[in-house]
Amino acid sequence: MRVLSGIQPSGSLHLGNYFGMMRRMIDYQENSELFCFLVNYHALTSVFDADRLRRQTFEAACDFLALGLDPDKSVFWVQSDVPEVTELTWLLSNITGMGLLERCHSYKDKTAKGIPASHGLFAYPVLMAADILLFGGEKVPVGKDQKQHLEVARDIAVRFNNVYGETFVVPEPDIAGDVALVPGIDGQKMSKSYDNTIEIFADEKTLRKKVMSIKTDSTPVDEPKPLEGNVLFDLYALFLDERERETLKERFLTPGLKYGEVKKELFGVIYEYFAPYRQERERLARDKQYVLETMQNGARKAREAASTYLERARHNVGLDYRS
Ligand code: TYM
Repeated sequence: MRVLSGIQPSGSLHLGNYFGMMRRMIDYQENSELFCFLVNYHALTSVFDADRLRRQTFEAACDFLALGLDPDKSVFWVQSDVPEVTELTWLLSNITGMGLLERCHSYKDKTAKGIPASHGLFAYPVLMAADILLFGGEKVPVGKDQKQHLEVARDIAVRFNNVYGETFVVPEPDIAGDVALVPGIDGQKMSKSYDNTIEIFADEKTLRKKVMSIKTDSTPVDEPKPLEGNVLFDLYALFLDERERETLKERFLTPGLKYGEVKKELFGVIYEYFAPYRQERERLARDKQYVLETMQNGARKAREAASTYLERARHNVGLDYRS
């Protein structure tokens, strides 16, 4: 089973990214053929500072490797190191209806938040479809916010196959129920653009401040706390197994629980959870040559995998005029 997914290097990675996608991807490397990439072409739709993009791309590579992505068990690369994906984007563009893209809410949401309404932003889902189809991705682990983009990728694959004959694998989204939409500290979806994220590698002081500002309700201390829509409970639960979750539930339902104390506890849990990775990340950040070589090797493997699908697509649309 070929499992594939990408992430934008457009800022520090947060708990939403980690639980929605990164951790699940790292788990998949044990029993699947894992393809994982950093989508810096996509990041160009919202990052207009070249130095920042370079830095964030390198940092995202360090993050993934530090968290346990094993370059020997997976194919891990930076999107722009396999520029074939932009060629495929063009082939796909011509069978992608305008209506399909006009229905995408991510474009509307992003422009409403002040991201420039460019052609790149509008065509973003086509590049994402190319990311998946170019490598024959079968299963795509993502958070719920990417569900519509996955549907677009499926529509594009089916349409291309109908117009030009069997060319691409039709991908399946893989959205895990309990982590489908990790809430941010204000209760909306955790997202950099809402400024409500908890970064996985935030320094101690910043992390403490973020956790202490998680939005809570005003239920008096001596009453049971609601579980439904309780951001503090939901974020804490991410770090627990099923049995521990039950215990946390009971604590919330027992009068006397103080939100402030639970927040302090949660800060410790998050900090401890990422502590071993943090050290490894610092080590990798100093070993630039290793990280860059790793990405280069990954790109080589990815390019090889891409050539099968790209050649087939070029042939099926008739670009190979010499033959
Ligand atoms: P991006 O970079 O915004 O997010 C990376 C992954 O993190 C997930 N995620 C969340 N999951 C749960 N709760 C949250 N609050 C949360 N916030 C983010 C996202 O769903 C995503 O899985 N367009 C994609 C990147 C992409 C891609 C692809 C993904 C480009 N090409 C091909 C899969 C296949 C994006 O911007 O994700």
